[in-house]
Amino acid sequence: MENDKLKRETIVARGVPSHVAIIMDGNGRWAKAKGLERWQGHKEGVEAVRRVMEASGEVGVKYLTLYAFSIENWNRPGDEVSMLMGLMVDAILSETANLMRQRVRVKAIGNLQDLPVEAREKLAGLIRLTEANDGLTVVLALSYGSRWEILQAAKRLAVDYGTADAATLDALGEGEFARYLTTAGIPDPDLLIRTSGECRLSNFLLWQIAYSELYFVGKFWPDFQKEDLYLAVQNFQQRERRFGMTGEQVKIK
Ligand code: FPP
Repeated sequence: MENDKLKRETIVARGVPSHVAIIMDGNGRWAKAKGLERWQGHKEGVEAVRRVMEASGEVGVKYLTLYAFSIENWNRPGDEVSMLMGLMVDAILSETANLMRQRVRVKAIGNLQDLPVEAREKLAGLIRLTEANDGLTVVLALSYGSRWEILQAAKRLAVDYGTADAATLDALGEGEFARYLTTAGIPDPDLLIRTSGECRLSNFLLWQIAYSELYFVGKFWPDFQKEDLYLAVQNFQQRERRFGMTGEQVKIK
């Protein structure tokens, strides 16, 4: 326990990424490897969510974005989709007190209108309830897809700027465009983690991760421990983020 505290203090002293985003992959394979049903993998995945939320809060991560359900996930068998939605509703109900105690603020990104009514309402209630909390912000990506997000931003922008003159259009920058994304107001991730050994982005935050550090780890999501988050953060701390500049420029800055 004491050792754990020391480890956390060392990590904090070296600078913690402000925003960590996670592609929580491998629930199905975790279950299969244990001879269990896929839903049991998802259920265990919720336990990993709980651990990682706690660990993130403890080391001072400000934003934790979790890819809980992608737009493409709607194509899974109906019973698995229903199970995942039910799991989310259950998790909201059972975790509300815990989230309030940890002063966690919950937000959601994605095409939320497509969620079943109960999931949408429970989620909206949790977002409202936790709005004023000042601890970790947990951003749930639900029915989220980056191409969908960028396309809907472009469509809304076209409506707003349809009659704009050339000078106004010319002045439109990345910051203005980003306000049309579902992540408006949320800083870009510093660190993106994907579990299960797959090294791809799967339509997740493609605009926002332009300069994020990527970290791929072989473990399946249900096996992901607090310690694994610390390891990812320590790995991040060894990277030199240059944002297109030279190493020398970064050192002077
Ligand atoms: C990927 O594993 C995981 C998902 C599609 C769902 C992730 C959701 C959770 C962990 C529950 C989230 C709940 C809350 C409250 C945030 P997979 O099924 O694609 O695994 P596989 O690639 O091994 O089949």
